[in-house]
Amino acid sequence: MKGGVGKTTVTLGLASAAWKRNWRTLVIDLDPQANATIGLGVDEPGFTVSDVLADSRPGIASEAITATTWGDHVTVLASESALENRTQATGPNSAHRLRIALASIPRQQDIVLIDCPPSLGEMTRNALHVANTALVVTEPGFFALRGAQQALEAIDTIRKTTNPALTRSVLVVNRARMTVAEHRQRVQELEEFYGSLVSPTRIPERNAIPQSEAAGMPIHAWESPAGTELANHFDVLLDDLVPGGSRV
Ligand SMILES: Nc1ncnc2c1ncn2[C@@H]1O[C@H](COP(=O)(O)OP(=O)(O)OP(=O)(O)O)[C@@H](O)[C@H]1O
Ligand SMILES: [Mg+2]
Repeated sequence: MKGGVGKTTVTLGLASAAWKRNWRTLVIDLDPQANATIGLGVDEPGFTVSDVLADSRPGIASEAITATTWGDHVTVLASESALENRTQATGPNSAHRLRIALASIPRQQDIVLIDCPPSLGEMTRNALHVANTALVVTEPGFFALRGAQQALEAIDTIRKTTNPALTRSVLVVNRARMTVAEHRQRVQELEEFYGSLVSPTRIPERNAIPQSEAAGMPIHAWESPAGTELANHFDVLLDDLVPGGSRV
């Protein structure tokens, strides 16, 4: 719900950890801002997720899977600004368009990561109808925590109604400065309220994040102490999300 908290950063960080493991990784960019697409080095995609969602044929997404500059095993369903025109519901089943368009594609991948826009609207609902784990990214501030609450409620509603396979929600704290009393207090509140839903991973604030994103490089290939530190955090987070190896 809240913009700029690090959703795309966490998506790309997990994609980077999967890249490092040579997993077949598909990133689906459902944000018209296309930040994940750009972070994967794709500037001018041909067939995009906007075209895919306009087409109702099962499996059509396979025609839009685009190579990235990260390597053969990391691909993207790219976004573009025209996706903005598809963010309204068009009927009772419009939140299932992505699931239908993907058909068997997720089973051909080791991991599929979906980056959502900062709203609980149509695109995020499409993501939640095909996902089996929902990651809620938050910053240790009051408004971000409220946004996390709204996201968790939306996830619960979809789990209880239309996607029982959405069995897991995980809260990840980004930009945590645990030396700041306010941050410590907010993280403690989160843990008291949400218990084991809160991932023990705290992504620190480091310039290596915007730098590697702008360079279109995986953080695991960013050779600096901060790059290594961040890579370790995303490795631990990926282990937690996919215990025992790939295939989610
Ligand atoms: N831990 C961090 N340290 C330093 N910079 C960060 C960190 N996390 C995110 N950023 C930077 O903050 C900005 C916003 O992050 P990001 O794009 O990941 O947020 P978002 O939640 O995807 O935003 P939006 O809601 O617009 O999609 C980006 O420029 C990103 O590089
Ligand atoms: Mg984003």
